[in-house]
Amino acid sequence: MEKIEFSNLQLNPAELIGKQWMLITAGTQESFNTMTASWGGLGFLWNRPVAFVFVRPNRHTAKFIDEQAAFTLSFMPEKYRNDLLFCGRNSGRDVDKMAATSLEPFTTPNGLVAMADADLVLECRKMAVATMQEADFVNFAEVSPQWYDPTNPLHKVYICEITTTYVR
Ligand SMILES: Cc1cc2nc3c(=O)[nH]c(=O)nc-3n(C[C@H](O)[C@H](O)[C@H](O)COP(=O)(O)O)c2cc1C
Repeated sequence: MEKIEFSNLQLNPAELIGKQWMLITAGTQESFNTMTASWGGLGFLWNRPVAFVFVRPNRHTAKFIDEQAAFTLSFMPEKYRNDLLFCGRNSGRDVDKMAATSLEPFTTPNGLVAMADADLVLECRKMAVATMQEADFVNFAEVSPQWYDPTNPLHKVYICEITTTYVR
């Protein structure tokens, strides 16, 4: 993959994240997990490019994100759609996602795990973490019936500096 400046990318973040989806991969080469995510954003904060992702604390991946200083976002070609669905419907607690899909991990020069064959990989260094609270919402009832209940806890928001951008 080729390393470029994030600012040289031309993309629509809502399309990219909301429609193409992404794999959040966190952990070490020896022990990592990946999950599909379609909620989040890309932007500019604290004078640097940032990514923010919304991960429920009950995801197995959340444990790996919390343990490490950084993680990756991998945006895959369409042919991996079923694998992304698999990684979004199954937990790394129960299955080995790398064995069950055609996804293959690779380790970036900075030692982070990402997915081979991605169109785009972002290395993300955690800068701030917050757990959303019911009181943070202007109108919690607008979203809670569909998105939050005792088995679907409020998201943790991870705001990260995009430290490296790789494209194919
Ligand atoms: C299309 C799609 C998008 C998803 N987006 C998110 C998301 O943004 N945040 C989140 O916490 N879970 C999201 N999920 C659910 C997780 O991917 C799912 O719970 C997964 O099984 C977690 O795996 P893990 O337990 O191995 O971490 C999404 C699932 C799908 C299918």
